[in-house]
Amino acid sequence: MSLRFDSTRTPDIVVIGAGLIGLAIALELIDRGAQVTVVDRGQSLGGASTAAAGMLAAADPGNPPELQELSRLSAERYPAFLGRLEALSGIAVPFQTNTTVQYLEDGSTVRLAEHSLDPRQLAAALRAAVNATSIRLLEHTQIAAADQNSGGATIRLNGGTAINAQAVVYAAGAWTSEVMAALDNDPISVTPCKGQMLRVRLPFPLDEVHRSERIYICPRTRGPQAGTALIGATVENAGFDMSVHGVDLDALRALAAKLIPELASEAEAPMVESWAGLRPATPDKLPILGACSRPGQFIATGHYRNGILQAPGTALVMADVLEGKAPCIDISALSPLRFACSVTG
Ligand code: GLY
Repeated sequence: MSLRFDSTRTPDIVVIGAGLIGLAIALELIDRGAQVTVVDRGQSLGGASTAAAGMLAAADPGNPPELQELSRLSAERYPAFLGRLEALSGIAVPFQTNTTVQYLEDGSTVRLAEHSLDPRQLAAALRAAVNATSIRLLEHTQIAAADQNSGGATIRLNGGTAINAQAVVYAAGAWTSEVMAALDNDPISVTPCKGQMLRVRLPFPLDEVHRSERIYICPRTRGPQAGTALIGATVENAGFDMSVHGVDLDALRALAAKLIPELASEAEAPMVESWAGLRPATPDKLPILGACSRPGQFIATGHYRNGILQAPGTALVMADVLEGKAPCIDISALSPLRFACSVTG
């Protein structure tokens, strides 16, 4: 499907979900001349986007091969993405680290040229950037119905407002299935994958991420969290539960201490805070990106453990798909149609 971004129609596109993925797509679309409304039933960037550690882990040997191109594209695009946010918002988001020490199965280590950033700094810049544009952001807003019609879809908000859109993009992260089912769409399988983590004060300066298959230590070197490190994360199938448990945090700390022994004790590395987030997981743990079989319906979700990294690339390829252009990378392995999604409206 090809959209001409007809500016006499308001809006051209409704994005459902104001997380990093939804807002990055919205920014890319307005840069291409679209009118965009983003609707979220909660606060923007209140989910996985700010619970994440912020590693741009494009070189993680555990990444599935199907993610390689999107990861490479996204990592390449990150400086331009952050530059765009700064130009709009006046807020610079610095990289916190530039190297990851990866611990391999055989006990050896390899140093990877990867960045990390603080997702809370990213969220502040992105929110301010969006506010500086024509994007209409409707937070704490429920959608009552999404009715397919010949020109696209009519989105009916609770309270009666109707928005006519040429296209709808579902980007509600771990809540995407719930949102689609509530709108009587064929639900696509996206489930929450809980991650608990803690942030500790470091007993000495650290400016590299340390990561094994089971644990990561992600230091903050700049901004309000400088001198601390995140230790994460659990990988749990616990529905929408967001509780945090001392026993799980102790287990994370013990795993971290295998990489950096000084992190073992609360006395040496006191905990500053702890929290849980919900990653959007698909059955094959790959994102779902692209057009559904129903005209005007698109999905961008399921980024699982790599959503911060993959936002800029996702925004590019989704904008291409919405414009009816071939994306600059092959995303066929990520197609919604692999799950036989029909998405009725
Ligand atoms: N992105 C890190 C995690 O999922 O824990």
